[in-house]
Parts: sequence; structure tokens; C-alpha cells
Amino acid sequence: MTVEYTLVRAPHDVEQILALQAENHRDTVDPETAQREGFTSVRHEPSVLHAMNRAYPSAIAVSGDVLAGYCLMMAQQFRHAVPILEPMFSLFDRLEWRGEPLAGNPRWFVMGQVCVARAFRGQGVFDGVYHKLRDAYAPQFDFVLTEISQRNTRSMRAHQRVGFETLHVYRDPAADEMWEVVVWDWR
Ligand SMILES: CC(C)(COP(=O)(O)OP(=O)(O)OC[C@H]1O[C@@H](n2cnc3c(N)ncnc32)[C@H](O)[C@@H]1OP(=O)(O)O)[C@@H](O)C(=O)NCCC(=O)NCCS
Repeated sequence: MTVEYTLVRAPHDVEQILALQAENHRDTVDPETAQREGFTSVRHEPSVLHAMNRAYPSAIAVSGDVLAGYCLMMAQQFRHAVPILEPMFSLFDRLEWRGEPLAGNPRWFVMGQVCVARAFRGQGVFDGVYHKLRDAYAPQFDFVLTEISQRNTRSMRAHQRVGFETLHVYRDPAADEMWEVVVWDWR
């Protein structure tokens, strides 16, 4: 299966992202698979995801007509558009990276979600979409931030491998869940 890495080209790509996201949501995936292969936590409003991709297209992996994976470019201007992520942005307002506050620095963005379709896992697609994201946005941005549940051990491992470092760890008391804020610095 040849896999090609590109940026979102058309609204149809966004529809495919929404479908893959729904398939992998923590409410859909059975607990055993979630533990072994991970899960997604955010469900985007379609109109918001389309707008995000018109502003800054996300990186995708395609194999023929099939979406093999994606990682989402979420610019800071969308911080109020995805309510479940607002606490994360508020936390970022209080954090620093390499001695500089994140607040007021326009040279970072959030990777809003990464997912590899089940048939394509363990084949380098994760690295491929992230490298596409870096190639597209490193000229304009110094680093990318995201957060990962410590329960998602596979995702934690893959992010470390690609080059992410942990900036902050916190507990979400409501769900009794530990989260890591991670950063991939491109400078
Ligand atoms: C998480 C995900 C994006 C990773 O993509 P992938 O193609 O499966 O990742 P890879 O196989 O390249 O890398 C996984 C790494 O974790 C390791 N791994 C595999 N299963 C693991 C497990 N249960 N626990 C810990 N590490 C695990 C692999 O060995 C590999 O590490 P290595 O390179 O050191 O060998 C993909 O599994 C996925 O889409 N899962 C569902 C959605 C999701 O969890 N998204 C991330 C939300 S933060």
C-alpha cells in the first residue's frame, strides 16, 4: 500500500478526518483496544474543522481513496472554537517553554489531534504525517504543542520517538486522569 503525505486539499479530506475521528473516539473504542492502540478525546464540530483547515491545512496520509492518518493544525486563533480544549489553552497561558511565556507568543500552534487508521498502524504513518506538518509549518512557527493522556501509552511512546519533550504534567481531577503537555521544538 503506497501512502502519500500531503496537506488537506479539499472539504472531502475534512469529511474523511471526521469519520476516522469518530471511529477512534474513546466513547466508541472498546477498552482493550483503547489500552493497546489509543483513542481520541476530541470531537470537532464539522464547521469548525473545515474553518481550521481553510486557515491552515492539516497534514494527512492518503492511500488511494483511503485516509490513512492525519494530524491537525490548530492555530491559536481557534482557542475558543473547541470548548473541550479551552482549559488546555488557559493552562498554556500560565506555562513557559525555555524560559519564555507561551502567552503572547504567536510562534507556536497546537497539534489538535493525531490518528492513524487501524490498518496503517505501526508502519511509519505517524512519523510521516508529523514530518509533513513540520515541513509545512516550521518556516512560520518555532514549536508545536499538544497534550496526551498518560493512559494513551502508545501515543506517548510515538510522540517521544518523533521528538516531543514533556513540558508539564497535570491531573484532571474530574476524570482522575494524568495529562502531559508536550512540545516539539523545531529551532
Ligand atoms: C497513537 C497512534 C496515532 C500511533 O500511531 P501508530 O502508527 O500506531 O504508532 P507507531 O506504531 O509508529 O508507534 C507506536 C509506538 O508505541 C509502541 N507501542 C505499541 N503499543 C504500545 C502500547 N500498548 N503501550 C506502549 N507503547 C506501545 C510501539 O512499539 C512504538 O514505539 P517504538 O517506535 O519505540 O517501537 C495510533 O495508534 C492511533 O491512531 N491510535 C488511536 C488514536 C489515538 O490514540 N490518537 C492519539 C491521541 S493523543
